[in-house]
Parts: sequence; structure tokens; C-alpha cells
Amino acid sequence: MIKLNINIDHVATLRQSRMGFAPDPIEAAKIVKESGVNGVVMHLREDRRHIQDEDLVRFKKNPQLKKFHLNLEMAPTKEMFDIANKIKPNVITLVPEKRKELTTEGGLNIKKNSRILKLRLKNLHPSIKVMLFIDAIKTQIDASINLGPRTIDGIELNTGQYARLEPHQYKLFKKEFDKLKIAAEYAHEKGLHVAAGHGLDTGNLRILTSISQIMEYNIGHSIIGDSIFFGLKKSIKRIQDIIER
Ligand code: PXP
Repeated sequence: MIKLNINIDHVATLRQSRMGFAPDPIEAAKIVKESGVNGVVMHLREDRRHIQDEDLVRFKKNPQLKKFHLNLEMAPTKEMFDIANKIKPNVITLVPEKRKELTTEGGLNIKKNSRILKLRLKNLHPSIKVMLFIDAIKTQIDASINLGPRTIDGIELNTGQYARLEPHQYKLFKKEFDKLKIAAEYAHEKGLHVAAGHGLDTGNLRILTSISQIMEYNIGHSIIGDSIFFGLKKSIKRIQDIIER
């Protein structure tokens, strides 16, 4: 079964634009659960630009979300590992973070950061699975495997570059697709769970699903964006009804 997790950061981004309470990502998480998909992804960024610490606490405490799968995306800092140990998500996905980026711009360089990653992972609660968000490069997969003594459960391949290309940029598109395919096959062969995410939408996902080693997708922006257009008429009608009455 191929799993789908929905990234609900984008709901929190809209909420933070007014610094209020709505729209509430926890309400979105309930709809995600009702939809029957595997779980949600929340990225607690160091600058707290969307998901807040309190969102994680409310997710965990909400009886309707009991046992619902939470993938906590985070930078490999001590602060984030302390939070993960307190919240105990099902999975953490380690990502690189730059303050000035609009969104995660590339995979985590496991080779370059292996010393600090080993140190942090030593102190992670054993019930939490570990995924690493990496670019589709063989040496990064090898470095992920060699991070021990704590075993890595899997990798999430960065599809950002692939997703930015249009099918008419055929050569580049094929090159990025092939990179993802080769990396997914290699990681799978090495016994890693393979996920993929970033920038995926109804236009670019179909071709990617031909890579049978990708067993999980993490998708947010396009789904939350599309939901505006699927729900806008209904939202207008609710306000119109009040005004007309
Ligand atoms: N995976 C990772 C590691 C990400 O950083 C993001 C974006 O927060 C996603 C998946 C989801 O990407 P998108 O929101 O573009 O679908």
C-alpha cells in the first residue's frame, strides 16, 4: 500500500498571516484523518513561521486524532530533538533549514553533517522512526546508511527540482526523473523505506508513481491550494446566506 501524508503547514501559514486562531491546522488534521490517508506532516521551523509548538501539543492531546500518524519535519538542532522527545511523533524527518528560504530548498547533506547527526540521533527516543530528506544522490544514501549506531528507517527523496520542471522541458525532466528512479531503486535495494515529496501535484505525480520503490508521498502545498478552488463557492454561499437573511 502506498502511503500519503498531507503537509498541513500551509494552513498554519494562512493563520499566521493574521496571528489569530483560524484557519486551524488541527481542524485540517481531522479532515485529513477522515479522508482515510496515512497521516499528516508538520514542519516546526526554527523561526515558527507556520506551525507553532502549541499545535503539536494540541494535535497530540486531541481525542479525535488519537493514534493518527504524525511526521514531524524538523532541522537537526538540539532544540528540535528535545521537542521531538517530548511530543513523540511517529516519525521525524530531518531537513536542512535556512532562515531566508521560502521553503526547504534542498536535501540535507548527510555526508557533511554526519558527526552532528550521529550525536543528535543517539539521544532520540527509540519509539520514533527516522527519515532523512535528501537529494537523489547515491553518496547521500550511503552516508544515510552509515549513520549508525541508530538505524535510519528511510529516506525522503527531494522532488523539488523535478517538480519545478514542465513536461515540455523534456530532457531536463527526464534527467531529474531518472535521478529519482535510480536513487529510489538503490535505497530500496539497501533496505531503506523510500518516500518522496516537495512540489508534487496532480500534474507531476502520475509519472513519479511509476517508480514502484517509492512507498510514501508527503504532499501539502498543491492540495491545500486546490482546496481553495474546490471550496470557494461553498464559502461564499455561507456568507451570502447570512447577508440575505
Ligand atoms: N517534504 C518535505 C521535506 C518538505 O519540506 C515539504 C514542504 O514543507 C514537503 C514534503 C511538502 O511539499 P509541498 O508542500 O510542496 O507539497
